[in-house]
Amino acid sequence: MAHDDRSPVTVIGLGLMGSALARVLVKNGHPTTVWNRTAGKADELVSLGATRAATVRDAVAASPTVIVCVTDYPAAYEVLESCGDALSGRHLVHLSTGTPEQAREAAAWAAERGVHYLDGAVMATPSGVGGSEAVLFYSGSEAVFAAEREMLNVLGGATSYLGADHGMASLYDSSLLGVEWGVLSGYFHAFSLVGTEGSKASTFLPVAIQFLRSIEAVFHEVARQVDEGRYPSDEETLEIHLNAMDRLIETSRARGIGVDVPEFFKSIITRAVALGHGADGLPSAFEAVKRPA
Ligand SMILES: NC(=O)c1ccc[n+]([C@@H]2O[C@H](COP(=O)([O-])OP(=O)(O)OC[C@H]3O[C@@H](n4cnc5c(N)ncnc54)[C@H](OP(=O)(O)O)[C@@H]3O)[C@@H](O)[C@H]2O)c1
Repeated sequence: MAHDDRSPVTVIGLGLMGSALARVLVKNGHPTTVWNRTAGKADELVSLGATRAATVRDAVAASPTVIVCVTDYPAAYEVLESCGDALSGRHLVHLSTGTPEQAREAAAWAAERGVHYLDGAVMATPSGVGGSEAVLFYSGSEAVFAAEREMLNVLGGATSYLGADHGMASLYDSSLLGVEWGVLSGYFHAFSLVGTEGSKASTFLPVAIQFLRSIEAVFHEVARQVDEGRYPSDEETLEIHLNAMDRLIETSRARGIGVDVPEFFKSIITRAVALGHGADGLPSAFEAVKRPA
């Protein structure tokens, strides 16, 4: 299928993620110019149809839109400052991982140079990039997001714009890292526990996923109560969960597995109870988590 109308894009940084982004752009018909510090990493992309630029300046000059995906923000500055004023007037989409503060500093850096800046976060693996489920967040220039929407949709089917504050994409990225590890740590403990009685992780997993699906409405209720700052205990109190956590610790100890994960959960519940939420609902544990211990 011909894509004669696809806009030219430059991709700077061809590590695992940058290469995946460039590959998807090439495959979707975007005239794609690439540059990487280690030039050999462009070979495969060139064989697919990308154009190799000899310098960062040439790469930037080749397209109105530049995507940068390198290790971190300091690396991005090191690369981009070598191109002089070539970025001025162009759209810069920055997909290296960083903090909200780094994203805001980068936006100021871009504004000083007349660069139209959109910050972003890739919440997918390199092999997932370009898929309908691939989640990518953007924040910053709404004009750049609107102008680049079609190209950005090529990178991931689940594309969201989080607002004009350039730091929001990084903030959501960091927050989801916590969600990922929260879920993973719970799974690791559960796999250990069921494993003591010969049940495989892969046998347990579908049951856990079914359980999580069945309580999706509970998560919506948790979010609602957190937003309202009120935690009525219509179904179960935090005190009951404290007892339940003691049983999980006892059951784990009896089987000789680590208890640091349930002890961590217990420490949160204990602090929330100490703050006066013992008779409140489960979402009141949020009040302990949001405060420094
Ligand atoms: N891989 C993932 O699953 C994933 C998922 C989400 C987000 N990300 C984010 O995407 C970004 C890139 O990750 P990656 O997995 O592609 O890492 P990677 O494979 O280690 O690649 C790092 C890239 O940064 C370049 N680079 C580093 N320092 C540089 C410097 N001082 N000057 C010029 N180029 C420099 C490297 O160039 P050389 O090839 O010359 O070393 C390479 O192109 C990171 O911020 C990462 O957090 C990655």
